[in-house]
Amino acid sequence: MIQRIKELQKLVEEFSPVNIAEIEEFRLKFLSKKGLITELFNDFRTLNPEEKKIVGVEINKLKQFTTDKLNELKSSLVVSDNSEVELDLSRPGDSFKLGTRHPISIVRNEIISIFTRLGFVVGDGAEIENDDHNFSKLNFPDDHPARDMQDTFFISSDMNVLLRTHTSSVQAHEMSELKPPIRSLAPGRVYRNEAISARAHCLFHQIEGLYVDKNVSFADLKQTLDYFAKEMFGEKTKIRLRPSYFPFTEPSAEVDVSCTLCGGKGCNVCKETGWLEILGCGMVDPNVFETAGIDPNVYSGFAFGMGIERITMLKYGIKDLRLFFENDLRFLEQFNTAY
Ligand code: PHE
Repeated sequence: MIQRIKELQKLVEEFSPVNIAEIEEFRLKFLSKKGLITELFNDFRTLNPEEKKIVGVEINKLKQFTTDKLNELKSSLVVSDNSEVELDLSRPGDSFKLGTRHPISIVRNEIISIFTRLGFVVGDGAEIENDDHNFSKLNFPDDHPARDMQDTFFISSDMNVLLRTHTSSVQAHEMSELKPPIRSLAPGRVYRNEAISARAHCLFHQIEGLYVDKNVSFADLKQTLDYFAKEMFGEKTKIRLRPSYFPFTEPSAEVDVSCTLCGGKGCNVCKETGWLEILGCGMVDPNVFETAGIDPNVYSGFAFGMGIERITMLKYGIKDLRLFFENDLRFLEQFNTAY
């Protein structure tokens, strides 16, 4: 009998059904009133007490094993309408793939975190603007070339509604809508009608900074940007300011950082100059204050604006701007950071 029990045990072990019907068939064959295991119990009665002790244990083990196995099989099979197996829910799942942040978002968040440590507050502005806030309130003369169709995407035929060409439009809003002191940051998309290349795109991102209060000086501006450059590119980074022109700041400057690759010695990234341009800035022009209703004799301020793509390219050594907009996973997956 022990031999018979072993045979049945083997059959149960080997049983691998493909649908619920087969499991039921198996159950009837083994466990029903006329089933093979029930039969064993009948034979069991004819044994002497000594044999019963040993065989009884084995039969019960077999019965338990069979019942457990059938229950387990049943719960792992999902039955479709035609009773075919669709899915084994007991199989381990594939691990869930987490996405990564876009490099532009990483660097934007990093820039924001640096300036918020200095007390700047993040503000928001619209991407669709009027001429007033993108140009007029910022002291752009009517015939300024930046209003030319070449640079600006106009939305209305009277050229009054447009896609903002810089985040300085947010400055214009803040100065006429808030009372100083103002210490704000405005990140966002800007649009320019330019041919797409490795260095230019019709859509890109900027961050604008504005600080208006009593006694704000050019030294404050320089110190703020020096702190930013060191936090962003490393402690050894130096900045230099070159005189420049923007209609809404006077004096204006362009800011360079010592080359992130060669540290200022000269290489092909900085075209042997040792310096890389990162942003435009200046002291708020008194005309802009007056248009906004802020008294330039009481208040002074500085503003700066930087391209996030530019900073990101310098920080990560990215050579082609178009990579930011192509959603190529091989590129994006390399930016695996907590920011
Ligand atoms: N808006 C300017 C640009 O897009 C940058 C800038 C911002 C310059 C603030 C001065 C002050 O080039």
